[in-house]
Amino acid sequence: MNHPVDHRLLAQPAFQEEEDSNTSANPTFESVMAARLSRRGMLRGSVGTAATAVFGSFATAACGGGDDEVVAAPSTVVSSLGFAAVGKSLADTITVPAGYTATVLYRCGDPIATGVAAAKNDGTDGDFDKRSGDCHDGIEYFGLNAAGTGPDASSSERGLLGMNHEYQNNLFLFPNGPTPNPRPAAEVDKEVAVHGLSIVEVKRTGSVVSYVQGSTFNRRITAATTMTLSGPAAGDALMKTKYSIDGSTTRGTQNNCGTGTTPWGTLITCEENWIGYFTRAAADDTARGGATARSVVSLKRYGLAAGAASRYGWETGGTADLYARWNASQSGTSTDGTDDYRNIINNFGWNVEIDPYQPTAKIKKRTAMGRFAHEAAAYLTPVAGKPLAFYMGDDSRGEYIFKFVSDAIWAAADAVPADRIATGDKYLDKGKLYAAKFNADGTGEWLLLDISAAAIKGYATYTFANQADVLVNARLAADALGATKMDRPEWSTVNPATDDIYFTLTNNTNRVLTGTAYPLVDASNPRAYNDTKGTATAQKGNVNGHIIRMSENGRNPAAVAFQWDVYLFGAESTAAAAINLSGLTADQDFSSPDGMRFTNSTGLAWIETDDGAYTDVTNCMLLAAVAGSRGDGAKLTVNNTRDTATLAVDTYMGKKPTATTLKRFLVGPAQAEVTGICETPDGKALFINIQHPGEDTAAASIVDPTKFGSHWPDGGTARPRSATVVITKNDGGRIGT
Ligand code: FEO
Ligand code: CA
Ligand code: CA
Repeated sequence: MNHPVDHRLLAQPAFQEEEDSNTSANPTFESVMAARLSRRGMLRGSVGTAATAVFGSFATAACGGGDDEVVAAPSTVVSSLGFAAVGKSLADTITVPAGYTATVLYRCGDPIATGVAAAKNDGTDGDFDKRSGDCHDGIEYFGLNAAGTGPDASSSERGLLGMNHEYQNNLFLFPNGPTPNPRPAAEVDKEVAVHGLSIVEVKRTGSVVSYVQGSTFNRRITAATTMTLSGPAAGDALMKTKYSIDGSTTRGTQNNCGTGTTPWGTLITCEENWIGYFTRAAADDTARGGATARSVVSLKRYGLAAGAASRYGWETGGTADLYARWNASQSGTSTDGTDDYRNIINNFGWNVEIDPYQPTAKIKKRTAMGRFAHEAAAYLTPVAGKPLAFYMGDDSRGEYIFKFVSDAIWAAADAVPADRIATGDKYLDKGKLYAAKFNADGTGEWLLLDISAAAIKGYATYTFANQADVLVNARLAADALGATKMDRPEWSTVNPATDDIYFTLTNNTNRVLTGTAYPLVDASNPRAYNDTKGTATAQKGNVNGHIIRMSENGRNPAAVAFQWDVYLFGAESTAAAAINLSGLTADQDFSSPDGMRFTNSTGLAWIETDDGAYTDVTNCMLLAAVAGSRGDGAKLTVNNTRDTATLAVDTYMGKKPTATTLKRFLVGPAQAEVTGICETPDGKALFINIQHPGEDTAAASIVDPTKFGSHWPDGGTARPRSATVVITKNDGGRIGT
């Protein structure tokens, strides 16, 4: 989600969605790490394996191969988009190209358990642990064998969808909207249950895709589900709570935005804006020892100031532990935090691994991958004999891009393991965490977050106790190392044909041309400008966002140096050339890229928007692209003007799109974000999520359906609902071709 202004906290105090708590001075900090080329990369040749089927990366890894094996592109990669672009639209519907059909599959409130009635969608529905949650987001497809006994990565007829329910459009969850603080316990319980994830079975019969109510695989994971803390920070002093005095477990996962998968068939769900669910007393800094106390420095760096109100007031639901756990104040008398929830926020901000096929398997928060506002996790194509690398964004203004490299080297047999979570233990609990530094010359460095690093050991702002502390406070460690402050890193995705790594940088109103309060434009975040929206006050900064692209030296997951360029700049097609740098046409223009995914069946890139800047002209959208490769463009000077300040900065931009390499494919309904994307292995069904239609509806309008901001998907006077949509091609072909 992408909300500089709070649209949704109808009964709660305003909050800043993507907090801006990076006050480090690191742009001037010099990294000690020298760029170096990978010897192995220079030795690589071309190996023409056919990685065309499902999970191209699995297939490739299974080909075995030695140290220098190169991963092949899907042989069926599409080089030209085969549909007519969709125009921009403000209609309260989904628009797709001629020859395609978009079908609503799974709406907020739809029942997944046997015997649960259809949702009335009037605010009275309960039992959300047996129904779809709200605010669908990241989504992944896991093929199921015909017998329904386990995985079949090639199955397009039967599969499991794993998806996030990021938050709640809570105006519509109650007959007359939510009750202000103090919240009734029953309302809190309902809201906790609409968060989390769904695992739901889907089947395809002919061209009809539907979900299977009553499947034994169906389940909800919520903000109350028990989870295991795993990896180096598990059991650390920073993780202990009244609920888990040994710091080994916690309850719940919420505000999960992007998703990822693993090469062994599990789901990774990414905890993003979790901080806003907690409150802290006004006097809490004093209770903790004052502004320089380590825990206070940490809390502020993650955006929870003393006196901060929680987003939904869940801590006001009663005195029971289920409600008290949302209050992160130091209220107990213990020295270690085992009698209160002073450490609770350290239990959140992780990537969480879930086995979609095994409802009884432990759900594990993988602490080795670092703690921040996680947004997606994409892995480089696995190569036998090399470690795995996962790429992760920290979605707040001025935050960082991270990489996790496993200690374990990839064994192709692990693609189909007997125990998937044990395989996760092998690859995700031990490894190295890096933050990215983008240099002005188109190179970059991965800075290692390690307790032994001089910059971390000697960091004046915060004294790290151990490596667990470095992982828990990954933002502070990355500050110390001098990582590059980015324009809100959202989704990551890897092009299977090239191993280029893409990050959407959705927008940043705090990118400036002058002064010291905010980061100046730099080579990798090179734009800051004025934008108008109707007659409203102009938005400023990197209003429309961009997509950055990186390639590891030698395509080596363990590389500590990379090269980068900007793949695309978001812009309105009518904007000045100094803003519309990619030359987007009316069939291509977009703002605030967020979701992004390469689909394996075609090698096409799909770009989704969660925008607030261009919404006077168009609803959010999905675009398809033939992406090219890093370095296919040239050096470029960006001549910025923000207010009266001007500043030119050099960057590197990829080849501009053509009319056949970038097209708008879909426009969503009113006041909705288009997010999450996955496909059946044959590429003939594409799943996306529509999140928060009608989110701008005023609280007072709940009694007047004519004033709802959207009635999608049910139409008429219905309340709007987030939902999963499946897109098929009427001739039965692959989507986008
Ligand atoms: Fe929930 Fe980073 O968007
Ligand atoms: Ca997002
Ligand atoms: Ca505008």
